[in-house]
Amino acid sequence: MFHLSDGLECVTPRLIVRPIRLSDRERWIAAHDASGDHFTHWMPYTDPSISHDERFTAQFSRAQAGLERGDFYSFVVEHRHDQTLVGFHSLSQVFRGPFQNAYAGWRISRPYTNQGLGSESVLALLDLAFHPFPRGLGLHRVQANVIPTNAPSLALARRVGFREEGYAKRYLEIDGRYQDHVMFAKLSEEHV
Ligand SMILES: CC(C)(COP(=O)(O)OP(=O)(O)OC[C@H]1O[C@@H](n2cnc3c(N)ncnc32)[C@H](O)[C@@H]1OP(=O)(O)O)[C@@H](O)C(=O)NCCC(=O)NCCS
Repeated sequence: MFHLSDGLECVTPRLIVRPIRLSDRERWIAAHDASGDHFTHWMPYTDPSISHDERFTAQFSRAQAGLERGDFYSFVVEHRHDQTLVGFHSLSQVFRGPFQNAYAGWRISRPYTNQGLGSESVLALLDLAFHPFPRGLGLHRVQANVIPTNAPSLALARRVGFREEGYAKRYLEIDGRYQDHVMFAKLSEEHV
């Protein structure tokens, strides 16, 4: 468990995981410019004619609306060394009532992969998901779905303690076609 501060923020030895801010625009664009097709291959299709600036605006609006409704949280991963944005994570489809569940998404920009920053920041994301209000979201369960050929993401899921629950055929439309996914979950009592 890392240090949680006010405002849904989690500080790890190398990183800060916190909600996206309007002032992140330039650094968000720089990280996406530096990543090229590293993200797009593993994401729903996005029209390449839409600029990163326009995509940031859309992402920020979606994050604001989600924060108000309490069902979608968009986080950035900021490096404590030089404040570079190195990653972009989310907790989406937050469902309350007896379920208390969300879906995790994670991305580390290309130049910062293979340094353990994905695992460090996703553990922080899970701290934020499971910790009680007001510093966390007080969820009971976080799910994650990964394409079976995405070896780095499968390794990350296992490294941070997700448990494999099943295999979904043609589950999500990623990069323009429905693709199979390995389904993972982690419960609050499994996050120690
Ligand atoms: C999947 C993704 C998030 C992984 O990011 P990452 O930061 O490389 O992931 P990890 O934190 O698990 O990094 C682990 C690697 O760093 C290495 N590493 C180097 N220094 C380390 C350190 N100080 N601590 C821990 N690990 C370290 C590990 O050995 C490991 O390499 P290995 O698997 O060859 O042993 C990233 O590749 C990505 O964004 N991909 C594109 C988008 C995507 O696929 N998203 C997920 C869709 S489901």
